[in-house]
Formats: sequence, C-alpha cells, structure tokens
Amino acid sequence: MAAPRDQIVLSAHGVQLVLDLSSGAPVVRHWGSPLGDLDGDALRRMTTPPIAHSTVDVPQDPGVLRERARAFHGRPALSGNRDRLDWAPLFQIVEHHASDTEASIRLHDAVASLTIDLRYRIVPSGLVLVDLAVINDGSEPYRLEELTTWMPLPERVAESLDFTGRWLKERQPQRRPIAVGSWVLESREGRSGHGASVVQCAMTSGAGFGDGEVWALGLLWSGEHRHLIERGIDGRTAMGAGELLQSGEMVLQPGDRYQAPSVAAAYSDQGLDGLSSRYHEWLRARPEHPTRVRPRPVTLNVWEAVYFDHDLERLRALVDVAAEVGVERFVLDDGWFGTRRDDRSGLGDWVVSEDAWPEGLGPLIDRVTAAGMEFGLWFEGEMVNPDSDLYRAHPEWILHVPGRTPPTGRNQQVLDLTHDGAYEHVLGQVDALLSRHPITYIKWDHNRPLVDPAHLGRPAVHNQTVAVYRLFDELKSRHPGLEIESCASGGGRVDLGMAMHVDRFWTSDSNDALERQGIQRYSMTAIPPEMLGTHIGPSTSHSSSRSHSLSFRAITALFGHAGIEWDITETTNAERSLLAEWAAYYKANRGLLHSGRVVRVDHSDPAALVHGVVAHDHSAAIFCYVQVAASGGVLPSPALIPGLDPDGRYRVRRIEPAGRAPAMQHADPKWVDGVITTGAALATIGLRPPILHPEQAILIEVVRA
Ligand code: GLA
Repeated sequence: MAAPRDQIVLSAHGVQLVLDLSSGAPVVRHWGSPLGDLDGDALRRMTTPPIAHSTVDVPQDPGVLRERARAFHGRPALSGNRDRLDWAPLFQIVEHHASDTEASIRLHDAVASLTIDLRYRIVPSGLVLVDLAVINDGSEPYRLEELTTWMPLPERVAESLDFTGRWLKERQPQRRPIAVGSWVLESREGRSGHGASVVQCAMTSGAGFGDGEVWALGLLWSGEHRHLIERGIDGRTAMGAGELLQSGEMVLQPGDRYQAPSVAAAYSDQGLDGLSSRYHEWLRARPEHPTRVRPRPVTLNVWEAVYFDHDLERLRALVDVAAEVGVERFVLDDGWFGTRRDDRSGLGDWVVSEDAWPEGLGPLIDRVTAAGMEFGLWFEGEMVNPDSDLYRAHPEWILHVPGRTPPTGRNQQVLDLTHDGAYEHVLGQVDALLSRHPITYIKWDHNRPLVDPAHLGRPAVHNQTVAVYRLFDELKSRHPGLEIESCASGGGRVDLGMAMHVDRFWTSDSNDALERQGIQRYSMTAIPPEMLGTHIGPSTSHSSSRSHSLSFRAITALFGHAGIEWDITETTNAERSLLAEWAAYYKANRGLLHSGRVVRVDHSDPAALVHGVVAHDHSAAIFCYVQVAASGGVLPSPALIPGLDPDGRYRVRRIEPAGRAPAMQHADPKWVDGVITTGAALATIGLRPPILHPEQAILIEVVRA
C-alpha cells in the first residue's frame, strides 16, 4: 500500500495497522489482515463517515485518544484534571516517525499542557504492542484518573469472550453479544486476581477455536486493571485496556510522566487458536523465555503431600521416591520458616525454623541435589502475619490507612513493599537464603487481596506492583539462573505483566484433573503451556473429593509444565512404575509439548474435549481425547485432528503414558494400535474414540510416516 504522508501503514507477519494522521490526531483506519495494494487515501475515503443530523458539522472520527473535544461521546482514553481545569484535552500531533513495523507519535495540547507519547510495534508473531504515556508539561499538578489504550474494532464483531474465575476455578469463559454500551471488566484487589481475564476478546459471530476472526487486548500489568468493549449508537466499536487507578492515587507533578502498562493487541483470522499462537510465539521469542534456557523439569511440590508437617525423615523419603520416578526439581512449600507451623503465624520471618528444621535446610537440600534434582523454596514475601517477629517490630509496615487496621485475610496483612525498610527486609532475607543454599527456584505466593491499601500521599496500589517486579528482577540479577513461579492462592496472579518477570504460573490450587481440563484450556489463551504448572494430584482430589485414575491425572498434567503434588511415598510399586513411565514420556516429548501450536478442537460432542499440540513443521502432534462425561450417543463422536499437513502421511496410535483408561466396550476402535493416514483425513474424518468411562482420557500420537 502506498502511504500518503499523512498516513502510517505498519504491515508485517500477516497483520496490518493503518493510522490516518490527516485530522491532526491519529485515527486507526484498520487493524486486521493486510488489505492489499490500496491507493493513497482510498481507505480514508472508504471509512470516513457521513455527517449525521443532530451532531457536529464535521465527520466524527474518534482518534485513538477519543477526546470529547473532537465530538466523541464515548469513554475518553485520558481522564484527569488540574484542579477542575484541563479535563477535556484536545491533542494535536507534533511529531511522528515510522518504519514498516513501528510507529511513534507525539501529541500535545498547549491549553491543557499535556503531552502524549504513543508507540505501535508489530512483533514477529504478529502481535501489536502498544505503549502509551502522558506527561504533565504544566506548572501545576495533574491528577490522572485513567489512561486506557484503545483499539478500534470492525463493526462485524458480534461477541465478546473473556474469562472470570475464583479460587479453584480460574479462567472460566464467558461469551456475550456485543451491544450498544460498555462491557467492563475490572480488577480491584491489588493483584490481577483469580477473575483476571488475562486477555479480553471480541469475535465475529460464532468464531471458535479453529475459525472466525478474533481481536484481543492483553495488559502487561499485574495490579488493578480494566478491560472494556464499547459500542456507540453509531455502531462504532472499540476495545480498551488499562490500569485502574484509585481516585487521587496518581498525581503527576510538573514534568512527571505516567507510562501506562503496555498492551499486547492480537488479531487472528484463524479463531482463538490463531490468537493464542500469536501470544505464545511472542513470549517464546524472548531470549529469557524458560524453554530457551533449558527444558522444563519434572517438578515435585510437597504442599499436598505434607502441608505444614515438615519432618526431615518424611521429606527425605519423599525425595527418594521422587528421584526414583524421575522428578528433576523438588520444591519445599509453605511451613519451613519462623513459627510457621500452620497458617496463623510466621509470615514475614524468612529465616529457617529451628523448631521444624533443627539442622537447617542443608540436610534436605543435600539429599535433593545428591539425587540429581534441583531444589526450590516457597515464599510469600508481600505478606506478614500479625503473629510474627517482623510485625511485632514494624506494625507500621503494613498497607493501611493510619488509625485503622484492615481485616486480615488468611490471618495475614499486606506488607508495604514501597516502604524501603520493608523492601530491604524481604530482599535481604530471601537473598541470604539463596546465597547460602543451592536454590534455583522460588515459588512466590500472594494469598490475600489488598483491601485498605491507601498510603497517604503515595500511589500505594500501583507502586506495590512495581515493587514486586523490581524485587523479582533484583533477585534474578543477583542469582543468575533463578526461576520464579508466580502463585496467588493458585492462579490469582496470572497475567502478561507477570509473564515478563517470572518463569512459571501456578495455574490453580485445584489438582482435580476434570477441573484442570477447563482451567488449563483457557489459561492457554495467552500463556503458553510451558509456563503453566500442571501437577498430578492425589488419587482423591483434596479440593473436590473427586477420585480420578492415575492415567487421567497424568495425561491432564502433561499439557503444561508437568509435575507431581502428591505423597508418592504412599504409592504402590505399580503406581511408581507408571509415574516413571509418564515422567519419561514427558521428558521425551516436552520439546514438542512446549514449542508447538496449541490446538483446541471445536468438537461436536459436548461430553468430550479434544486438544493437542502440533509441531510447527507439521512433523508430529500429540492430541488428547478427554471423555468429560458419558456421551449421549452409543458411539462417541469422531475426534477431528486438525492442523497437520493435509498432504502429509502420518502414523497414528493411541498412547497411555500412565496406564490403560477404562472403557466400556467389547473391542477397541481399529486405529488405536496404529494406522497410516493423511493430515487431510485426520482433519476431516477424524478418529473414532474408544467408549471411555467418564473422566478418562487417552493420548493420540501423530508422527510423520
Ligand atoms: C497457596 C498456594 C498453594 C500453597 C499454599 C501454602 O494456597 O496456592 O499452592 O503454596 O498457599 O500455604
């Protein structure tokens, strides 16, 4: 497309963004598939609206800042004021630069004395990264209330898709028709939260995993935030994402700049899987992405095995069985420090308990490393129990409003990490342990929301998130190779902001394989499987009392960063050899599981799920057929296996890496022991699943013949 001087066209990796600068403010004319060889101002002429009655006498083209002063009547991108003034700015472009993949635009309002910096970058996975900042050029403070990054949507978007959730059931999808008005998702608990959507999507009618158009915004921020989709009565639709600021929290002094969290904007014409692939490939391209450092080790976390019962001999026995079945990383969870014998005390005192660990952690760590495993340790550094030495010494270090104490949550208060003393205390104690012992991994928890966080005169909620990022980065720079897992009562802090600072998310405290199928399916919308912790829990789930076969639990845990969270000292020899088989299968296949394209099939039988991972060169795939409930029909519907090379010939067989899934049938379907077929036949004819018992699964291995 030949761009006139007042138009910027960014086009790369199957995505195009066209910015029209002719009105003096940037108007996004297009965000989607490339439009081909359009002449000069054709797009502007095609999209400039007529002038309707009962409005202003110029075409209304809301620029990306959506100012009221341009007669735009929806939600503006920027809200704020300078003591009742300067709340309705009108920005004009003062400078812009662009290449094929990147545009920077500076805008200014001389009356309001505000400057905006805007940058769009298309990265190789086809994501558009948008950065937006406001600068106070005035001589008086500017009270910033909101700076949201908006992207326009074509009017053919018909449905929104986003995710909500709670402890033990994170990332539940919700689809709604897009109508006139605003659909707003807010998070106001100091962390992104169990209900955080991670990304919000807008889709064409009926879009699925494999087809339809999807647009999405994801925010690189782990604190309070807002996602919105807004449609005006003129039909024009847009989506926005930004930090949610408390009233009066962010006051920009003269010369101050507020950099909004970056927004990762994705467009896909291949349904949700195409969208997920753009997010996954973007994250995977970072040099520090965990799989680029080393393969994701089989992890054993002791939480559901021993809880607070820390006993060296008991844990040594667990180490030995872990090593026997092929575990590569052993993580000691909550309960090793201070007076932490239950969840009522000790948080804040990150010193090994002499009571629970009379010889220190050394003997356990020695046993772990002697067995060839890495050692990991749990922390919850942003928290303090009132019953702790730290709190007794510094009760003033909690987030609170002077004169009142917030209610506790899980018996704990939030430590104000923006306080230098508190920050240095946590950094110093964690650093001391990491320096003393070969600890290569920390699980970092955050088990309560921030309810009364005002700290007079400081942006307490915003700064708390900035402080934890800084702490993680500092620990990593002091301890090269350190990995961090973000946990918040399970998946309460899973977001793209945290993904820039950690290596793994604890996806959910539910290790129930059935619940996990749903939670993992949607957590992968933007987070790649290798960053999602997925563990084999006990035979009877501690969080649901459901019992599942080892086979189902093991297959479910394969589609992520796999591990075990179960007292495997109680397992039989038969179970141990199945676990060893499973761990060996994971190690042999994690290269594919953690690099391929995630495929979730729009399967016709509501009682089953089909999902898998396909190698980028189409040489292999691993699919999973999950019988969630009993199918209504005698024969479960064929499982389609899309995403392979249609002309390619493949050898296909059933794999059960941890034992046979029970089935109710006289004979298996014929393909299970092996069939050679084509990618086209797999995608259109599919495979007849065995008649599995409900809550069972099998793997389908596909290898180029
Ligand atoms: C949270 C985490 C669990 C575990 C406990 C320890 O609930 O999500 O995995 O670490 O804390 O107290």
